Amino acid sequence: MEIDFYNKVAEKFENYSTEVDMQKEFPGEDPEERFISELLQAADSRIEALDVGSRDGRFTLSVAPNFKKITAIETSDSMLETACKLQKETGITNVSFRKIDIFHNQYFSEIFGVIYSRRGPTDYLEFERLLVPGGKYIGIKVGEQDARAIKEIFGRGQNYGKWNEPVLKRDIKDLEDVWLTVSCAGEYLYTEYFKTSVDLSSYLEKVPIFEDYDPIKDRDNLARYIAEHKTEKGIALQRHRIVLVAEKS
Ligand SMILES: C[S@@+](CC[C@H](N)C(=O)[O-])C[C@H]1O[C@@H](n2cnc3c(N)ncnc32)[C@H](O)[C@@H]1O
Repeated sequence: MEIDFYNKVAEKFENYSTEVDMQKEFPGEDPEERFISELLQAADSRIEALDVGSRDGRFTLSVAPNFKKITAIETSDSMLETACKLQKETGITNVSFRKIDIFHNQYFSEIFGVIYSRRGPTDYLEFERLLVPGGKYIGIKVGEQDARAIKEIFGRGQNYGKWNEPVLKRDIKDLEDVWLTVSCAGEYLYTEYFKTSVDLSSYLEKVPIFEDYDPIKDRDNLARYIAEHKTEKGIALQRHRIVLVAEKS
């Protein structure tokens, strides 16, 4: 389902980007900054990294100068195509974009000093196999409370109804089960404020909160959500992220 979603988005928005007029407000630290800081701390010009679910490659290319090499794997053909185009434009040569499904991976003989997943899929057993001793996994992923209010109004969405299944707790256990030692585990709730309904609608078309979001069919759902969540700062959307770092001994 997710693979189709990203192919569809790439076809509709040729110059793929989730940029819309939106402000973020963090009660504490920005989880994205925490993730990038952990990733850059682990980076080194001698280290080869694996990026799992690299989407359009924009992020991969932005951090590539910090590593010896990044192998970036992705299942969506359209996203891989965009990533290769961007790579040519930037002239960055130490990234290899490859079509590989992390859950059906029979290709790798390489091992990596760093494996990271920026809201991409996670297969911790496979990560453990692919990490060098002393290697690190660094991940940011969506928490169970993410965009809960809008999902409740729509009656569907990514991980709908799993509000009582804490992602952080589950992932710590999953990492420990494969003998990776967790060294950092953080949970972050923050708010995004969208200027207009058009901004929020356009955002919902590009992110997988609802993989089947339709601006026409969902017009009434969206209007109800906006009526309930309009604030002086804009239309509020509650986000939830977790950040994890683990090491192979
Ligand atoms: C939320 S996006 C990741 C965003 C990206 N890491 C970034 O920093 O912009 C998730 C990506 O994972 C890819 N993906 C989903 N399942 C996958 C799998 N089994 N193996 C590899 N990539 C996968 C999707 O096609 C999608 O591009």
